[in-house]
Amino acid sequence: MSGGPESTVSRETDHDASSSTTDNKENPYSAPAAYAGISSVDTPIGAAAQRASQVLHPHTVTLPRPKTRRMLTIANQKGGVGKTTSAVNLASALAVQGLRVLVVDLDPQGNASTALGVPHHSGTPSSYELLIGEVTAAEAIQQSPHHEGLFCIPATIDLAGAEIELVSMVAREGRLKNALSEKALASIDADFILIDCPPSLGLLTVNALVAANEVLIPIQCEYYALEGVGQLLRNIELVQSHLNPDLHVSTVLLTMYDGRTKLADQVAEEVRRHFGDAVLRAVIPRSVKVSEAPGFGMTVLDYDPGSRGAMSYLDAGRELAARTETINSQEQQ
Ligand SMILES: Nc1ncnc2c1ncn2[C@@H]1O[C@H](COP(=O)(O)OP(=O)(O)O)[C@@H](O)[C@H]1O
Ligand SMILES: [Mg+2]
Repeated sequence: MSGGPESTVSRETDHDASSSTTDNKENPYSAPAAYAGISSVDTPIGAAAQRASQVLHPHTVTLPRPKTRRMLTIANQKGGVGKTTSAVNLASALAVQGLRVLVVDLDPQGNASTALGVPHHSGTPSSYELLIGEVTAAEAIQQSPHHEGLFCIPATIDLAGAEIELVSMVAREGRLKNALSEKALASIDADFILIDCPPSLGLLTVNALVAANEVLIPIQCEYYALEGVGQLLRNIELVQSHLNPDLHVSTVLLTMYDGRTKLADQVAEEVRRHFGDAVLRAVIPRSVKVSEAPGFGMTVLDYDPGSRGAMSYLDAGRELAARTETINSQEQQ
């Protein structure tokens, strides 16, 4: 089998690598400051080796646990921008660095459940039963076989009808929030909850926006990258003013960056101008390994830990976790 958990060295060719991978200033994949602070190496190759070692030997470097649990909704109504890929790989990146993470799969396609290696055939206790009140979160949570601190509430095809079923239900926008209460999640004691949304702005996404305080928007470095983002932001504002005043876009992640194209840089620049500090410095490159991993029921961190895709998600996870202190201190003001 080519590729698998036993793989230690990336077989990814460099043909699609950015030409600037050896220059730390120019390199969009370079370790963010948060990582550099912990790293004992200051060359890109040394840092890469250390990150690969971190994935292969989980918990050698651990991230501080956030003071309060952070819940992020991963939303963008455009399909194929990297929502699911980012949800599972960020979750895995946080888990290999010692945090406890729950992924809630809210897309009837169940791709996040697949990538986390969690069964999600019709009838499995899932986000559907959770939303309609048939099971508790504790009953629907499954542990990912790859990490002890990584959990998933899977999505089954039964969720496909939920948008319609929810319409007639009481408190239809707040059902996920109620189901994911502190008490309901006490058994897994998660530091992070990442909610993977379907590519629409329907009731499932609204439930996710009501449940979480933070929104993470993945943006693909391609043509029309910002198409639809305006509409998403307007919906976020609506939810904020009517249903969840604490909701804010805390994080933007640039995905599928192709260093060979000028376009990717232009999109990245435009997104940074628009969203400022919310944009993570780590950028996810377009990488075959990232797209192959779910086919093996794995995240790229398990499938090919030394690959650029794995390292960039590790960096992004570290950066995301490093923002915890700022967010907590802002919230206390
Ligand atoms: N960094 C990447 N490099 C290469 N392929 C990617 C990358 N990120 C995502 N993909 C692929 O792009 C497709 C869409 O990604 P996905 O995460 O499912 O998007 P969404 O959840 O927003 O619809 C999938 O086939 C996925 O494997
Ligand atoms: Mg998806």
